[in-house]
Amino acid sequence: MSLSLSGERPDPPESAAEGVWLACIECGATFAPFEAVRYTCDDCDGLLEVRYADLPTFEEFEGRKLGVWRYADALPFDEGVSIDEGDTPLYEVPTIEAETGVADLRVKHEGMNPTGSFKDRGMTVGVRVAEKLGVDRLACASTGNTSAALACYGARANTETLVLLPAGKVAAGKVAQASLHGARILEVDGNFDACLDIVSDLADRGEAYLLNSLNPFRLEGQKTIGLEILEQFRDQTGDLPDRIVLPVGNAGNTAALYKAFRELVQSGALDADEVPTLTGVQAAGAAPMVEAIEEDADEVRRWDDVETRATAIRIGNPVNAPKALPGIRETGGTAVAVSDEEITDAQRALARDGVGVEPASAASVAGLRKLRESGEVAADEQVVCLTTGHLLKDPDAAATAGADPEPVPADTDGVLEHLGE
Ligand code: F0G
Repeated sequence: MSLSLSGERPDPPESAAEGVWLACIECGATFAPFEAVRYTCDDCDGLLEVRYADLPTFEEFEGRKLGVWRYADALPFDEGVSIDEGDTPLYEVPTIEAETGVADLRVKHEGMNPTGSFKDRGMTVGVRVAEKLGVDRLACASTGNTSAALACYGARANTETLVLLPAGKVAAGKVAQASLHGARILEVDGNFDACLDIVSDLADRGEAYLLNSLNPFRLEGQKTIGLEILEQFRDQTGDLPDRIVLPVGNAGNTAALYKAFRELVQSGALDADEVPTLTGVQAAGAAPMVEAIEEDADEVRRWDDVETRATAIRIGNPVNAPKALPGIRETGGTAVAVSDEEITDAQRALARDGVGVEPASAASVAGLRKLRESGEVAADEQVVCLTTGHLLKDPDAAATAGADPEPVPADTDGVLEHLGE
């Protein structure tokens, strides 16, 4: 099984370019990385993965500026189309740490990226590949954040950008970003999975270059979340985290973090037993990955009807499941579903600790709470929760979760009277 932590390192095929190639995770077929546009395997349609002849240890990252491109030795290029993505904070959250009673809890806040979500890490690499391939139109389906990031990086690269969004199901901040950065926005009368089906068809017909997480290069950029977590956690605590809890939609991050850790094991930088346990969290109304983990199934069943207030993860067909399921299983992790009420409550708890996130992000903390209650997460664990998007992405959800403004008259006495003083 090619995706195991103890897997052999294959020799580069003849098609490799400067030690980089693409490999199918199902049948092992290999392809040149930049000669043609390709998202899945020509032979069996399996997912592709970027492979490297040389894999770096931590020492090779030193001396570079912080951010995604600090990790250039683990990426296909030395630099990308960049607006200084990555290098996001790893926060202490004292109230939630005390309440959940784990030994150590940090929050990796990916909402602090340039467009307010982790998607920027994938786009700095993916849009660089698009430049290399010489494509003239970029496209994605999106629950919002991918479209905001693609619009921004597409603008930066001076390339036309098309985004397909599920009508009425994308938070206001994200549509505003895609719009202002100049993407052409198509509102589809269907859910995210239908949008992805359409945009994949468009890409197959050569109409646009696909920058969803089906694109293996995007996940290379997102690996840097895992690399940063390990370096920051070790700087702050002297240890590596035991567990990383993250929200799951298409399972791109789950796949990317697992790949980052697998490559560190292969380079000898990390022992297999030091790899953090990957723990996925989905909204109960959109939880096909949780179902697959609970049923110990090899494949994920597509959910046609999905609903959750965490619109970013309102996804019924997690395309990266074949890469992510082995990641959860091989690291001894699990997956758990949380209700919308639990998500909003976790969003409030994060806000009390000074961390403003959108609903999907709060799913990680909601999941941790649940797994502590069930005893699945032990009290002596050192845990990182990933928060994937900024509070301002979904201002309506934030306003609903927070307190209502109180109308007062326009004079000091009236204000004091209202305050009851
Ligand atoms: N959190 C946020 C805020 C997201 O926007 C997404 C995905 C996820 C979590 C799930 O990450 O797919 O790697 O498991 N958003 C995509 C989009 C689908 O279109 O913006 P995943």
